[in-house]
Amino acid sequence: MARTSFPISVDAAQIARAAELIRRGELVAFPTETVYGLGANALDANAVARIFEAKGRPSTSPLIVHVYGIERVGVVARYWPDQAETLARRFWPGPLTLVLPKQAAIPPLVTAGLDTVGVRIPNHPIALALLREVGVPIAAPSANRFTHLSPTTAAHVRESLGDRVSLILDGGPANVGLESTVLSLAGPAPVLLRPGMITRQQIEDLIGPVTLAEDPLHGPHSSPGQHRKHYSPRTPLVFVENGELPGGRGAYLYWHTFLNASRVYRMPSDAESSAARLYDILHELDNQSWDWIAVELPPRGPGWEAIHDRLNRAAAR
Ligand code: TXA
Ligand code: MG
Repeated sequence: MARTSFPISVDAAQIARAAELIRRGELVAFPTETVYGLGANALDANAVARIFEAKGRPSTSPLIVHVYGIERVGVVARYWPDQAETLARRFWPGPLTLVLPKQAAIPPLVTAGLDTVGVRIPNHPIALALLREVGVPIAAPSANRFTHLSPTTAAHVRESLGDRVSLILDGGPANVGLESTVLSLAGPAPVLLRPGMITRQQIEDLIGPVTLAEDPLHGPHSSPGQHRKHYSPRTPLVFVENGELPGGRGAYLYWHTFLNASRVYRMPSDAESSAARLYDILHELDNQSWDWIAVELPPRGPGWEAIHDRLNRAAAR
């Protein structure tokens, strides 16, 4: 493996070490293009149990399984519909998770007892090198304590889980910065379970109509693990609608309208750059003991859905 293919300080020896740790049933945090993952051998129930323990995550929340290539999806999913093939050809490796009927070899703990499994190929050279080297699928949620903000740098992982993982591979800041789009292809029609930077529109352009999980038709259980309060800083996060900041000292993020808070951040005008910066800014502000983090309502439109979704969850108390 050429050392030059790794963006930061990770070399082939570190990849080999990470793979060995995963084969032995230990936890390794690794970079992906979305957020850092907390990885374990997806075929080893004891290893997967350590993920839930390290995160403090309830076992009712299913994990995403990462594979090296489309030819390895069969180890994880027992059915590969045409729609999956179409989407995978266009968006993998990339920030799209497909929920499919699961293979018996995947322990029930990985999928929270569901008969379906979320699978994706991450678009990051270090993640791909690790997956290729280890030869087994890797179950990996975001590498943060349950309900906290997802990590977009190795430093975020160290802060949140540093003493609970055997190794953290440092691949620099995540490019995409928000968790993958999650789409279920396991039912009669495609359902969007979690918006991401691959948009509903981009998916519909390829496979036709996609239902939203929030639709009353699908009931409250179609999206396990999608807790309303999630992705949260510890500092209260509030939306600013009429130019009124809360009392006390706080930080303010905005796209259009400046307001005079103690700390003020102007967000990039495009959705991709805003997504790439958002968690890093929230992590930084969360370490500064403000009374609140106030956020202007982000722009609307295609590409902004995932940012609205994560901020709404972060604001949920
Ligand atoms: O970008 C990402 O997806 C990152 C990186 C590490 O790949 N991972 C991530 O994992 O965000 P996590 O565990 O924080 O979020 C996974 C979400 C769950 O909350 C759940 O909503 C959904 O994926 N999910 C996974 N398996 C599912 C299944 N079988 N059925 C329905 N939803 C599922
Ligand atoms: Mg998460």
